[in-house]
Amino acid sequence: MAQLWGGRFTKETDQLVYNFNASISFDQKFYRQDILGSMAHVKMLAKQGILTEEERDQILEGLQGILRDVEDGTLKITDQYEDIHSFVEANLIDRIGDAGKKLHTGRSRNDQVALDMKLYTREEVVTVDHLLEELLKTLLKIMEENLDTYMPGFTHLQKAQPITLAHHIGAYFEMFKRDRSRLYDIYQRMNVCPLGAGALAGTTYPLDRAYTAGLLKFEGPTLNSIDSVADRDYLIEFLSALSTIMMHLSRFSEEVILWNSNEYQFIELDDAYSTGSSIMPQKKNPDIAELVRGKTGRVYGALMSLLTTMKGIPLAYNKDMQEDKELTFDAIDTVKGCISLFQGMIATAKFNKTVMEDSAKHGFTNATDAADYLVNHGVPFRDAHGIVGQLVLRCIEKKIPLDELSLEEWKEICPVFEEDIYEAISLKTCVEKRVTIGAPGRAAMEQVIEAQKKYLQENEKVLDFFEKLV
Ligand code: ARG
Repeated sequence: MAQLWGGRFTKETDQLVYNFNASISFDQKFYRQDILGSMAHVKMLAKQGILTEEERDQILEGLQGILRDVEDGTLKITDQYEDIHSFVEANLIDRIGDAGKKLHTGRSRNDQVALDMKLYTREEVVTVDHLLEELLKTLLKIMEENLDTYMPGFTHLQKAQPITLAHHIGAYFEMFKRDRSRLYDIYQRMNVCPLGAGALAGTTYPLDRAYTAGLLKFEGPTLNSIDSVADRDYLIEFLSALSTIMMHLSRFSEEVILWNSNEYQFIELDDAYSTGSSIMPQKKNPDIAELVRGKTGRVYGALMSLLTTMKGIPLAYNKDMQEDKELTFDAIDTVKGCISLFQGMIATAKFNKTVMEDSAKHGFTNATDAADYLVNHGVPFRDAHGIVGQLVLRCIEKKIPLDELSLEEWKEICPVFEEDIYEAISLKTCVEKRVTIGAPGRAAMEQVIEAQKKYLQENEKVLDFFEKLV
């Protein structure tokens, strides 16, 4: 048991208490951020004359050594320490002696952990954004290749109107684009530095908080020391954005599962992204899509869990807040995995264009267009709706699509119909006439694709990593 705070205690901590309290098993994930934060702190302490330059150099060298040794595996992080902060400080003192004992001057683990967690998640916001960017590139490629892959669009999971695959995928493009803009917003809002807030009330040392904030590439220091150590809003916002990403991936997965089913056969997943059954030799299952859909619950759980943890905590720091870590780390890793795998799955899937087109030809997806034909010949829309309804009923009885009715049959119900009705309700016409912006017609889709390309260029690595922190 290695602790930073033995002085006022007369007894050893009970072993179960120690285990219950310790966080090293999970906060070791941000050992790098902890060391970088300490480096910035020490540089500032020396600049302010609180440490000598010699002490600063000794500490920096010691911290660099710890970083190097952890990274190359020569120094193992073990549960002999309470948390990552204790681990780094104890190792520093082992290496450089008394100077190491000065590292924690003007700092508390409360502002330290707030900083570490922020540095860690700030990078992860960028990583998730980059993964979404790659996913968007894949979606745009599918869109460009499928401008005239006709398929039924659905409402209530019933065939509604004909669209194209490009148009359908374009809906997901918009969703993931919004997800990126949420990450961007979160990044801007979270990018202030809590270091220097101390335990909750600042410190009596003449710290230069703006300087450490600058070294760590923050916009500036946080403006209230209590809030600095008590705030986990940015994690809640991030978990909320991650939950929304999962909701989008999950809806998409649900469609992949449906489309890959024997009933739909709209797509065929690549063998590399499918799994088999231990008993049924014929099976090829969409497990990846199902897992993405399933893991959505886990990410929502993290959001609910942290919201609940935070709701009753009085200001400022309380140990409850240690619970922010495992679930956030798990949610981040889960979402990163899901985006990457989903991208690979969709990039390698084969779209069965003829099956999709055939499906659009059945199910009366062109009924609205038949009504529009009448409207264009002066029939009021409500009447046209009724007339086509009768025609659909007749087709259902005869088990044929609208375009297999003879012209006499059309005319029998409404004499306004002429030979050009067949052309007017062809799949191609139905789609190609829809050219208002946002609609599936090629002319509109080409404009949208141009706009999305421009968006991708303008937002390439819009959030990025820093070459070097500190
Ligand atoms: N492991 C703690 C956490 O994750 C570090 C902060 C400890 N601060 C304290 N006052 N006990 O929140």
